[in-house]
Order: sequence, then structure tokens, then C-alpha cells
Amino acid sequence: MPRTVLVLSGPNLARLGSREPEIYGTASLADVEAACGETAAQLGLMADCRQTDNEAELVGWVHEAADGRLPVVLNPAAFTHYSYALADALAMRTAPLVEVHLSNPAARERFRHTSVVAAVADGTIAGFGMLSYQLALQAVAHLLGTDRYAAKGSCG
Ligand code: DQA
Repeated sequence: MPRTVLVLSGPNLARLGSREPEIYGTASLADVEAACGETAAQLGLMADCRQTDNEAELVGWVHEAADGRLPVVLNPAAFTHYSYALADALAMRTAPLVEVHLSNPAARERFRHTSVVAAVADGTIAGFGMLSYQLALQAVAHLLGTDRYAAKGSCG
């Protein structure tokens, strides 16, 4: 059985394709999720892709990941910059967590320079469009093979 990875996308990301294409590209969320499915399969993983505009729903999925020891690839979208509820939920994680962004927030408006998620993630991949998600899946596959996660199966 391939290991399931949750690929979670936050608010406004269902609008990809038509949302500010000069920043986010022309690929739709369905395109991104299809690419994630293919990349995950190549890595021996199974991508469970979900999107929500709702902070409570996203927090619930993060709890589910913690309880099920599921690795997470997360694009928190605007929640990145201010959601302490999301950061607190992610701090309980029990498996790899990679933060992703399609754009490069560091090169954009000042409010995007802060991530409350970065400190509780294994790492962040930003600025490569859809490829950010695929690189994040590679990072998850790599992390699952490291002593930190392979030996104990948790991040403890
Ligand atoms: C984003 C960057 C965030 O600043 C923004 O709020 C998003 C998308 C990205 O993928 O580049 O919604 O997370």
C-alpha cells in the first residue's frame, strides 16, 4: 500500500487558472492536483488532494494528519501570514510537513514576507509554480526515508 500524503491548498486556490495568472500561472487547481497525483505515484506515494477556503476545515484536516501520521504538503495561501490557529495545529504534527507556495512571497508585498507556518514545517518551497508542489512531494519522500521519520514514524 503506498503511503498517503495529504496535499492541502488554502483559500482562493480553487481559482487558479483565472486568479492573477501573471502571478500564479495559468494552470488550474485540477492541473496542479493531477501533477501531484503523477509525481506521488512515481515516488511510491498516494496524494490525497484537498482545497478549502475555510480555516476550521483546514485545521480539521491537519488534526486528521496528526492522528493518522500522514505527511502533509501544504499551501496555506493567505493563512500563511496570520493564522496562529493553523500554526498551532501544525505544531502537533507527527510526520513530514512541507510548506509550498506557487509564487515567491519574499519578492512580493511586505505582509507576505511573514510565514507563521515556516517555523513548524520541515522546510518551504516557493516560487516555482506547480513545480513547487512536485518538489515538495519529493522532499516528503526524502524525509520519510530519514532516521527522523523512518525510525520512529513521527517527528518527536
Ligand atoms: C500563495 C502566496 C500567498 O501570499 C497568497 O496569499 C496565496 C498564494 C502562493 O501559493 O504563492 O493565496 O500561497
